Amino acid sequence: MPDDDIVLKVEDLYKSYGKIAVLKGISFEVRRGETKIICGPSGSGKSTLLRCLNLLTRPDKGRIWLEGEDITNRNVDINKVRQKIGFVFQEFNLFNHLTALKNVSIGLEVVKKMKKEEAHRIALEMLKKVGLSEHAHKYPAELSGGQKQRVAIARALAMNPAVIFYDEPTSALDPQLIGEVLEVMKALAREKVTSVVVTHEMGFAQTVGDELLFMCDGKIVERGPPMEIIRKPKCEETKKFFQRIHELYARETR
Ligand SMILES: Nc1ncnc2c1ncn2[C@@H]1O[C@H](COP(=O)(O)OP(=O)(O)O)[C@@H](O)[C@H]1O
Ligand SMILES: [Mg+2]
Repeated sequence: MPDDDIVLKVEDLYKSYGKIAVLKGISFEVRRGETKIICGPSGSGKSTLLRCLNLLTRPDKGRIWLEGEDITNRNVDINKVRQKIGFVFQEFNLFNHLTALKNVSIGLEVVKKMKKEEAHRIALEMLKKVGLSEHAHKYPAELSGGQKQRVAIARALAMNPAVIFYDEPTSALDPQLIGEVLEVMKALAREKVTSVVVTHEMGFAQTVGDELLFMCDGKIVERGPPMEIIRKPKCEETKKFFQRIHELYARETR
């Protein structure tokens, strides 16, 4: 795969758990600097897809290239692959016994074998980027959900990954904390940090998303510019989904 511009290429991915087929032939590409949005109803296979891309789960069939390397090859070094992918989860997954600073620097120290001073310098820089310089010494329990998620983003960024995956990063947050996390994510998208974002935040998708993939029942049933798909969905499933999202948001902001 000679195209240097393609960070991630997914070809005909399949995954079943026992008799349940969760992914049924997923294909797409992510170009350098792109923000790809993935939406779809609960259970459509979005998290399973991200887990396959990160090799947390082995796909049954299909291939994945990360920066030109076929990572579905059995001989691939999984740890090296994971170092190239930042992962931001719905539930933050911070180390509760470590400060914000240490949460961000630990990967650099342990995985990248960086000297403590250098790792701390980079960690502080990343915390500054997400607006948390003042909170570097605090433990997760002393931070709000929005602040914790921003630490998680700083931690992903610190490793200088080829791509960052976000799996519903604002779904566990109180409505008033969602904005600060989306602002950080928008700024990164504008800086052309390559990312794949599973989210139902339509404002975010329309502002910075380059392409939206709509998943239903393990397949991508519709794809294209986020604005077009959200305003004029073609598939019945997509229409129903966005209708529900609109109703939900209307209720919340009433
Ligand atoms: N480890 C697993 N074992 C069995 N079934 C699973 C596992 N992970 C996910 N599933 C099933 O796969 C389907 C898709 O799940 P998931 O990828 O989490 O969807 P989404 O993130 O779109 O909500 C669901 O029916 C779920 O129950
Ligand atoms: Mg999920």
